[in-house]
Amino acid sequence: MSLKFIHIIGHSLPAITLVLGLPMVILDIAQRYSYARALGTISLLLFILTLIPGIIRRFELTQTSWGKTLTQLILPIRRQLGIAMFLTAIWHAMGLRWEVFQGVIETGVPPEPPLFEILGTLSLLILTPLFLTSNNLSTRILKRGWKHLHRLTYLAGWLLFGHVALQGGSWQTIVIGLIMIVEVTSLLYAIVKK
Ligand code: HEM
Repeated sequence: MSLKFIHIIGHSLPAITLVLGLPMVILDIAQRYSYARALGTISLLLFILTLIPGIIRRFELTQTSWGKTLTQLILPIRRQLGIAMFLTAIWHAMGLRWEVFQGVIETGVPPEPPLFEILGTLSLLILTPLFLTSNNLSTRILKRGWKHLHRLTYLAGWLLFGHVALQGGSWQTIVIGLIMIVEVTSLLYAIVKK
C-alpha cells in the first residue's frame, strides 16, 4: 500500500468515524453492546497511534528506517487520527450507555456510575477541548498555548488506562499500560538529554 493511499484513507477517517455509529440504530441491544465495545477498542488504538510520532521523536529515532517510516505514515494524519479517536469514543460511550443517558435526561437524576466509567468520562471530557481545537484556526490563535493544551493527552492516556484496567486484565490494558510507560520514559529521556 503506498504512503499516498494511506494518507488519503487517513484524511477521510473523521468522516468515516462520524458515520460509524449509525449502524447502532438498527442493532438490537446485545449487538449494539458488542459493536460499541469494539468501537472503544478502535478508539483506544487510534489514540495510541497519535502518541507514536512524539515517542519516536523524543527518543531520537526519526533517522532509523522504522522510525522514519512510522513518522511518515502517522505524522501527516495525526490530527485526523485524534479527531477520529474522539468521535469513535463518543459512539462507544453512547452505544453502551444510551439508556442511562436517556434516563438522566428524563428524570434529571444522575446514576451512580462505577469508577471505571467515571475515568472514561473524565478522559473524554479532557479530550473535548483538544478535539475542538484540532483545526488550523485554533493553532494560529493559541500559538504556544495549543502545544500546552495538547499535553493533556498524557493525562487522558492514564485515565484511559484506568478505564480499561479497572474492568479486569485485558490485552487492551496491557497495550495502553505499556504505551503510557514508554510515553513517560520518552518524556523523561527528552528532559535529561536537553
Ligand atoms: C476516550 C474515551 C474512551 C475510550 C478510548 C474507551 C475505550 C474502552 C475500551 C478499549 C473498552 C474495553 C472494550 C472491550 O473489552 O471489548 C471499554 C469498555 C467500556 N467502556 Fe469505554 N472508553 C472510553 C470512554 C468511555 C465512556 C465515556 C463511557 C461511558 C460513560 C465508557 C463506557 C464503557 C463501558 C460501560 C465499558 C465496558 C463494556 C463491557 O461491559 O465490557 N467508555 N472502553
